[in-house]
Amino acid sequence: MILVTGGLGYLGSHTCVALQRAGLSLLVVDNLANSRIAVLERMRALGGGEVEFVQADVRDRAALDAAMRGRRIEAVMHFAGLKAVGESVARPLEYYDNNLTGTLVLLQAMAAAGVHALVFSSSATVYGEPAFLPYTEEHPLNPVSPYAVTKRGVERLLEDLAAADARFRYAALRYFNPIGAHPSGRIGEDPRGIPGNLFPYLTQVAVGRLDQLTVHGREYDTPDGTGVRDYIHVMDLADGHLAALRHLLEARGSITANLGTGRGTSVLELIAAFERVTGLRVPHAFGPRRDGDIASYYADARLAERALGWRASRGIEDMCRDAWAWQSANPSGYPD
Ligand code: NAD
Ligand code: UD1
Repeated sequence: MILVTGGLGYLGSHTCVALQRAGLSLLVVDNLANSRIAVLERMRALGGGEVEFVQADVRDRAALDAAMRGRRIEAVMHFAGLKAVGESVARPLEYYDNNLTGTLVLLQAMAAAGVHALVFSSSATVYGEPAFLPYTEEHPLNPVSPYAVTKRGVERLLEDLAAADARFRYAALRYFNPIGAHPSGRIGEDPRGIPGNLFPYLTQVAVGRLDQLTVHGREYDTPDGTGVRDYIHVMDLADGHLAALRHLLEARGSITANLGTGRGTSVLELIAAFERVTGLRVPHAFGPRRDGDIASYYADARLAERALGWRASRGIEDMCRDAWAWQSANPSGYPD
């Protein structure tokens, strides 16, 4: 059985479907801070496997001990945490507590229960301003926001723990920009409030919840002047987790790897792809640059391919089609 923290969230729920499809049984721990319970039945139906659920906070050691007791947990996938960069600047205590304390308590509970394998949700934001592109895993690390510092801090903790305990192994996966949804449209990204990220904002404009998209900046040093990112289909990201889990369960050692496609797409290219796939128009206007934004970044994705045998197979149009399947069928997101 695999313990999945934060398994009802955007990335966790899609990964839980892929894990079930691979025949794994799951124990999901989530405090519902940023997710809805309606996800659970949908991911069970899509995955067709066994999913137990415990509503708990990963900082609650007693709750983790109780959840693991009597169950044979082979490995943990740790998605639980807070993820908004801007909010982390405004509320650092909450970010350090959830992301650092949460992981620390989880690792202590794992050690006590004799569980020695962890897949961790890290982020490309650990690299900071690019010294060169694409970012390889050897690129200098310069986390800037409190959020980024928590991600790098956990990576460092995992390195120290693996050095101290030969039984412990981890995969720290540095995600680029996951978008899209399960192709069924039954599960997808459902941010609370006004979305801060480009793609959920775009799909909410397309469905009529928001009036128009603002393109932040049009004079970057990029081919069309708008920001370039490495968007990765959420189901490719889910498959990457399965590959990382196999790597750990086969005792092939610890790894820190990018999960991206290796390709950059600009804001205007993404809007155009979405319009092409859906036949809709996405009203948009240009605004000033957003504070803290980087012009362009994308992954060198070769390490994951070499070491994990995984590589992203879905393209931008798949991401647009599947996100629209979700947003059009669930214009207001999940029911309460
Ligand atoms: P999400 O907010 O949709 O999912 C996180 C889940 O964890 C939610 O269901 C939330 O209720 C739960 N949670 C939060 N704090 C918790 C706690 N203390 N105890 C128990 N449950 C808790 O976010 P997501 O997009 O699915 O991201 C998952 C992970 O991936 C996060 O760690 C995030 O930092 C990381 N990540 C995400 C992205 C991205 O673009 N979405 C990029 C890089 C890294
Ligand atoms: C942000 C986070 C990153 C996190 C990722 C996914 C920062 C600095 N980084 O990345 O850590 O992993 O989200 O959660 O915040 N854009 C618009 N209009 C909008 C929104 C965005 O033009 O309304 C542009 C941005 O300027 C950028 C691109 O779209 O060029 C992508 O933005 P976004 O989706 O917010 O992701 P990142 O900033 O790359």
